[in-house]
Amino acid sequence: MIPFLDLKQINKRFEKEFKAQFSDFLNSGSYILGDAVLNFEKSFAKYCGTSYCVGVSNGLDALILIFKAYKELGLLHDGDEVIVPSNTYIATVLAILNNGLQPVFVEPNPYTFNIEASTISKHITNKTKAILVVHLYGQLCDMNEINSLAKTHDLLIVEDAAQAHGAQTETKERAGNLSDAAGFSFYPSKNLGALGDAGAITTNHKELYELLLKLRNYGSALKYENEVLGYNNRLDPIQAVFLQHKLTVLDSDNSKRREIAQRYVTEIKNPELKLPFYNGSLNHVFHLFVIQVKDRTRFMDYMLQNHIQIAIHYPKPPHQQNALKQFNKRSFPVSEAIHKTCVSLPISPVQTEEQTQQIISVINAYQ
Ligand SMILES: Cc1ncc(COP(=O)(O)O)c(C=O)c1O
Repeated sequence: MIPFLDLKQINKRFEKEFKAQFSDFLNSGSYILGDAVLNFEKSFAKYCGTSYCVGVSNGLDALILIFKAYKELGLLHDGDEVIVPSNTYIATVLAILNNGLQPVFVEPNPYTFNIEASTISKHITNKTKAILVVHLYGQLCDMNEINSLAKTHDLLIVEDAAQAHGAQTETKERAGNLSDAAGFSFYPSKNLGALGDAGAITTNHKELYELLLKLRNYGSALKYENEVLGYNNRLDPIQAVFLQHKLTVLDSDNSKRREIAQRYVTEIKNPELKLPFYNGSLNHVFHLFVIQVKDRTRFMDYMLQNHIQIAIHYPKPPHQQNALKQFNKRSFPVSEAIHKTCVSLPISPVQTEEQTQQIISVINAYQ
């Protein structure tokens, strides 16, 4: 069976280093924040090209804390509208709703799966205060256009960069440095994945950075001095240690993903399937390679019979979830069509050429 994602194999590559690093960590006697977290924050900020990075507990908390901080700074208020794609993972929307803000769903471009300025602009009202873009499946949104739209309307821009570590614009700016603040997830399956839950926020705004440091730590920068109502959303230092090491191979891992994607795009030839848009640039890090198939169940059965594991990202859009009852009657046809037809093919830095070839051959033989 070709696995959808072989996490064990991905991390086995670093077994020797991880074991030595864990032993140092054990012997350090320091198990909360400390140098490990600080060092990773510095490295990740440098990698993204931002002035600051705050390590946090996971990607959802990263996004939640960004909006909490903006409320604390008085830039957002209860009930303010935040524009967000209708076809994202639920966590993006939870960050808005759990802050007492109002999500305004915008349909994506069906070819890139991402939202764009021309559609966003139609949903801006006098209550709109922010846009939460998602670089879905690892492909950057067109941030030049979105940022200039935001400037015209004086809106905050937040990136959900959970799937886009390392993606670059034409001018070599990376995900995380294309907005006011960005949330990253280091969930194990991500392009930069920890061995547990972990996340980070990147920003160039000092005031926001300093507030986030407090918010993630009971509202305190100095022990037993609590200046704001905070939380415990700290990045675990052992995860910071693992991430620090894996950051050194992120670019080469992303290149491997792109090589596989390029093969899929050029060698999969089957009129039953729709391949994703890819212009060959560095703006896509292929966290996921998502194709669309009309009769998905039949295709999935076929792939399984041929010993290839596939996945769906995602079977149900946020507005159709029970948790979002107030949106259940709304209709977002572009998003709904994507959710009904999407299939994610295996793609990872440890996928072998033979596996890629087998996947291509099996798909080309599908009728
Ligand atoms: C687009 C997107 N946003 C947010 C998250 C939440 O990240 P986490 O699982 O680390 O909380 C994820 C990942 O699961 C994601 O894919």
